[in-house]
This record gives sequence, C-alpha cells and structure tokens, in this order.
Amino acid sequence: MQVQQNVSLKQYNTFGIDVTAQSFASFSSLDELEALTEYKQELSSINKISPLLILGGGSNLLFTKNVDGLVLKNELKGIELVNEDADYCYVKASAGEAWHTFVEHCIANNYAGLENLSLIPGNVGASPMQNIGAYGVEIKDVFHELQAYNINEKTIVKFSNAECKFGYRESIFKNEVKGQYIILNVTYRLRKNPLFNTSYGAINTELERMGAKELTIQNISQAVINIRTNKLPNPKEIGNAGSFLKNPQVSKFRWHVIWEEYPDVAAYKVDDLHYKLAAGWLIEKCGWKGFRRGDAGCHAKQALVLVNYGGASGQEILDLSDEIIKSVKNKFGVDLEREVNII
Ligand code: FAD
Ligand code: EPU
Repeated sequence: MQVQQNVSLKQYNTFGIDVTAQSFASFSSLDELEALTEYKQELSSINKISPLLILGGGSNLLFTKNVDGLVLKNELKGIELVNEDADYCYVKASAGEAWHTFVEHCIANNYAGLENLSLIPGNVGASPMQNIGAYGVEIKDVFHELQAYNINEKTIVKFSNAECKFGYRESIFKNEVKGQYIILNVTYRLRKNPLFNTSYGAINTELERMGAKELTIQNISQAVINIRTNKLPNPKEIGNAGSFLKNPQVSKFRWHVIWEEYPDVAAYKVDDLHYKLAAGWLIEKCGWKGFRRGDAGCHAKQALVLVNYGGASGQEILDLSDEIIKSVKNKFGVDLEREVNII
C-alpha cells in the first residue's frame, strides 16, 4: 500500500478520460483500507485533501475534471461458498473481484441466476450501487446481503436486500447514504435448480441462431455475451461507460401522444398509468445516432451509449449529453436522466 501523488486516471476509467488524481492508492485488505481512510481524515483536518473517491473498474463514471482528493482503488479479492440449503447456494464475493470473472465462476459451479448479467464490465463492489441489470434480470433478484465499511464511524455494517432500497439503476448508496460507505463484499443467493429467464426477446433469437439444443445457464450466458458483443462498443477499443442515460418512465398520456405520431416507438407498459420508453430510440429519432464532434460521439449501433474516440474531455462528453437531453425534451417532451456518475 503506497499513496502516490498526481496519478493519471486514464487507465482506470473505461471512458479513457485523462485526468489526474491528487492522491491515489489501492487497498487489498481491511487493514489497508482503515489506514488509508485515517490518512485521508488527517489530511482533511489540516485542510489538504477533502474528497474520497472509491474506484472499482471505472466503468460507470465520467471524469470532467482532475480529482482534488484521494482516489482509492478497491483490490479486495476472494470468492467463497458461505452457506447452502435445499434450493440455494449463498456465494460471497469480495468487492474488488471483476464482475464477469465472478459470473464465470458461478456458471462453472452451476450456481444459477447471474447468467443474464454476463459480460457487464466493472467489479462486484459496484454491482449493488446502481442495482446493475440486463436482459430481464437485476442484481436485486439474486442479492442476499452485503458488508460495507462506514468511513466516519469506522464500523462494518450489513445491509439486507430491503435495506439497500434497490430500484431501477438505484440504491440507498446513490441516495440517502451516498459517500458514507465502502462496500467490502456482496453475498448472492443463487439457485441450485435454474429458473431460466429468456423474457428478453433477443435471447431466444440468439439461442436459435447458436443452434442451442437445450436451455442451460451456459447457453444463456453465451447468448447474452454474443448479443452484447455485437451491439455495445468494447471499451478497450472505444471509450464508453455503457448506457449514458436511463430509460425514462412516462405517463400513459405522454406515451400515447408519441405513439400517435410514431407507432414504432420502443416502449413497454409498466402499469395502467405508466410506460417505459427506450431512451436509445428517442435519441436516434432526434438524429444523434452515429453523431461525432471531435472525439466525442454517440455510438452508431446504440444511441444510448456516448463514446470517446480517443482524445475527448469529460466536459465535451457531458456537453454532448446536455444537447441530447435538450433535443429529446424539445421533440418528445420527455426528460432524460443520466445513468453514469459524473465526477
Ligand atoms: P465504478 O465505475 O468504478 O464506480 C461506479 C460508482 O460506484 C462510483 O460512484 C464509485 O465511487 C462507486 N463504487 C465503486 N465501488 C465501490 C465500493 N466498493 N464501495 C462504494 N462505492 C463504490 N451497467 C448495467 O447495469 N447493465 C449493463 O448492461 C451495463 N453494460 C455496460 C456495458 C459497457 C460496455 C460498459 C462500459 C458499462 C456497462 N454498465 C452496465 C455500467 C457498469 O459496468 C456498471 O455500472 C458496473 O457495475 C460499474 O462497476 P465499476 O466497478 O466499474 O464501478
Ligand atoms: N433502440 C433504438 N435505437 C438505439 C438503441 C436502442 O431504437 O440506438 C431501441 C431498440 O431497438 C430496442 C430498445 O431501444 O427496441 C431497447 O434497446 P436495447 O435492448 O439495446 O436496450 P436499452 O434499453 O437501450 C438497457 C440497459 C442496458 C442493458 C440492456 C439489456 C438502461 C439504461 N440500459 O439498454 O444497460 O444492457 O437494456 O437489458 O437501462 C447500462 O446500464 O450501461 C447498460 C448497457
């Protein structure tokens, strides 16, 4: 454990934005984490450093300026089967494990429930932050509990599924207790007998294309990987953080107004009064898909993904997202909200 000064964060964020952290360290044990948070508090008390940023895989944030504080890279490792009963295995993973490595471990051991969440970038520790979701499954469906370190009180606290207050791309950690906890590990409740979820149409189509003879968690995982690889830009090739904005929920009235003019609107019914609209469709209809200004752009295959072709600044990408939000509001009267954390 070593605290370095003026460290470039370019390799630590999937957008590939080149900003500097005033101080940077990684931790691979609780002792190291405690020592580093104490160091941070000592510096804060003499007013030298204030903010603390916990970094996982850096795949859900956009740096718009240098970080005038301490960045801590989470390197806690370990995966363990901690309990089981007739139906479930309880598997605990440390926050610094790469998410997809953990998913692969579970699939290899026939722990079912994470297959639809294959190939999401980032680390285990961030998975509850925004209740990651894809292809009909969200983390809340398999989450059992987590342990987190309370930075001010220096205590370790457990959070149950209900206590995390999960919502669509939301949790208590993005809201009421924002910035107060460092997630140390997460325990997932995974099925011994799989409950296959192929509700997302593209999965069945891909399984057929693959010639899959039976439904298995391995086949579903492979189908999801194929769909994702085909549609989403690989951050190693083009900088991005996945969907930049959330899919908005609107009133039935608003949906109906849009549907009358555009019967092809990508939307689904939430309840009798609300519809969810595909933000990618709205953005595409405003003409942004494939747009590029300098090195900031809107991906040509998925309009919801903003990209950095190499040298864009975080501010340029943020400005582009502002223009997109305004044009969707003007054309459709719909407010879009950012999904990515702006730093
Ligand atoms: P980071 O970006 O490092 O951090 C995200 C936030 O969580 C930051 O505020 C950070 O401070 C905080 N944080 C991280 N770790 C901890 C911790 N241990 N304790 C406390 N706070 C912490 N997301 C989806 O939900 N579904 C998708 O299908 C999806 N697809 C994607 C595809 C691509 C190509 C990319 C680049 C991203 C995609 N994402 C998706 C977004 C992203 O992968 C997830 O949000 C992921 O969980 C972020 O993990 P991370 O470790 O990279 O988090
Ligand atoms: N669409 C368009 N044009 C586009 C993009 C999408 O018309 O440019 C339409 C599609 O045709 C489809 C609908 O929008 O009818 C939905 O598209 P897609 O299946 O690609 O999913 P999404 O709603 O754009 C969400 C998540 C993704 C997740 C996928 C799969 C959000 C904000 N995004 O995207 O999550 O992988 O569903 O479940 O909810 C992420 O969070 O970073 C992320 C990638």
